[in-house]
Amino acid sequence: MPSIRQLQITSFRNISEAKLDFAPDLNLITGENGSGKSSLLEAIHYAGLGRSFRNIRQTPVIQHNKDYCAVYCQLNNDNYLGISKSNKGANEIRVNGKKASTSAKLARLLPLQLFNAEAFQLLEGGPKARRQFIDWGVFHVEHRFYDAWRNFKRCLQNRNTLLRKQARTTEIAPWDQEFCRLAEQIDDLRRSYLEIYLPELAHTISRLVQLDGLEFQYSRGWKSECSIRETIERSWGRDHIVGHTTAGPHRADLKIKIDSQPASAILSRGQQKLVVSAMKLAQGAQLANLSGNTCVYLIDDLPAELDRKNRQKVCAVLHDLGGQVFITGTEETELIDTLQTSGFDATESKLFHVKHGKIEASEAGLKSA
Ligand SMILES: Nc1ncnc2c1ncn2[C@@H]1O[C@H](COP(=O)(O)OP(=O)(O)O)[C@@H](O)[C@H]1O
Ligand SMILES: [Mg+2]
Repeated sequence: MPSIRQLQITSFRNISEAKLDFAPDLNLITGENGSGKSSLLEAIHYAGLGRSFRNIRQTPVIQHNKDYCAVYCQLNNDNYLGISKSNKGANEIRVNGKKASTSAKLARLLPLQLFNAEAFQLLEGGPKARRQFIDWGVFHVEHRFYDAWRNFKRCLQNRNTLLRKQARTTEIAPWDQEFCRLAEQIDDLRRSYLEIYLPELAHTISRLVQLDGLEFQYSRGWKSECSIRETIERSWGRDHIVGHTTAGPHRADLKIKIDSQPASAILSRGQQKLVVSAMKLAQGAQLANLSGNTCVYLIDDLPAELDRKNRQKVCAVLHDLGGQVFITGTEETELIDTLQTSGFDATESKLFHVKHGKIEASEAGLKSA
């Protein structure tokens, strides 16, 4: 049941220094716009995944005029995660004091689910966001997945390099056997995951919103009537022309539709937020069911797009999942109200105020409301 006991931040966005002790269940973070609430969640995300969640903007996480930033996380199970970055170098990751070569180690120890404005990408973005979403789930419950995916990626890169160089069939063929073997393995693992996940998701959605005709359809990245071997043989000519591999598990998707139309074109923003929240909550539930591990939930700006009733519904599901929760918002009384009406215990929760990058735990805690 990983949760974060203590977090230390140095020069991360507008947070110069912070040392925070968190509650194991709920932590509320309030402050005005631009105070640093999202930056705090981003720092946690950075420690758990080795990357920012604002990658799209490619803005540097290191504080302006500083040449280094660091985030350290002490977990309740005594694991200790650290990540630092200097202006010149790549990330340096440490797990329990030892250097780690990949961020997969962080992710394994600290399963995170992030709810923020970028989560809408699951509905309105391209297949990549949805593929990464499925793969998060598979990665956490099926330990064979990571190696299969890494080896597949290497194989795909090699194959694509040869295609770009207009290499001959005989040069590319040796890669194809491994490509096909790993493609099938990845597809099998994703499929077994979704077999359990989709009913869990249907249940979670039914707790949040009623949407007739909502469908989730997995497409594996190549035609269902063909084997991967037949597919790559048939697409050989096209692959050669375009210079990359056009079919395979790197093209998989989880299509989300209502009456055969993309759900993003039909649902209101609030309904979209409920659907993407359900997707993430159901993944958390499945992780707990299959591995006994709970997630840490990072909910940036909970009230945005949701009315009071829907905020309560989301929080009630969160409460039942039993993981550690971080929720940000601008209106303190509104957040406390939501929490108190959705089952969380105020005496077990903590309240933090953020102002100009300074974060302080409220002495009065949640009882101040
Ligand atoms: N690298 C950085 N160094 C210093 N400040 C930054 C950096 N990146 C963003 N900021 C600033 O940090 C402030 C807090 O942003 P944010 O955490 O998104 O606020 P909130 O979520 O509370 O509205 C903003 O004023 C933003 O301009
Ligand atoms: Mg924010």
